[in-house]
Amino acid sequence: MANPEPILWRNEYSVGVADIDAQHQRLLELLNKVNAMNPEGLAPMARTGEVMKLLESFNEYAAYHFLSEEALMREHIEANEDTVKHIVAHRSYWSIISTFKKRFQEGDEKVNGELVEYLNRWWINHILETDQQLGRELNRRGVR
Ligand SMILES: [Fe+2]
Repeated sequence: MANPEPILWRNEYSVGVADIDAQHQRLLELLNKVNAMNPEGLAPMARTGEVMKLLESFNEYAAYHFLSEEALMREHIEANEDTVKHIVAHRSYWSIISTFKKRFQEGDEKVNGELVEYLNRWWINHILETDQQLGRELNRRGVR
């Protein structure tokens, strides 16, 4: 697998808003399950199928998480370039995910390695950049 080392929570991941931090911790836990997924003895396509199944439950939580971040934005921040960009980043996550699903349906057995790598990179970058910025804006408005 692309990333066998579990991702451990670090202080630098904290965005300073308790609910978002708790959700990010849960997401990283779920991501570690995806990272650790390496069923031995399965044919490549079956192995990829297992990863795609795990991706479904990961993404159920991701959808809930995006909605809660977007609800916080709507409640506390007037729509601006940054909030729009943030929502677009969430939307483009889904469109990349659907290209991975399509490749899997078309029988591409190499999709799981690239998918796992993508998930790790996307989530860590998103937390460290876009969500940090959201956290600062929420903190400025008294949301912790
Ligand atoms: Fe976000």
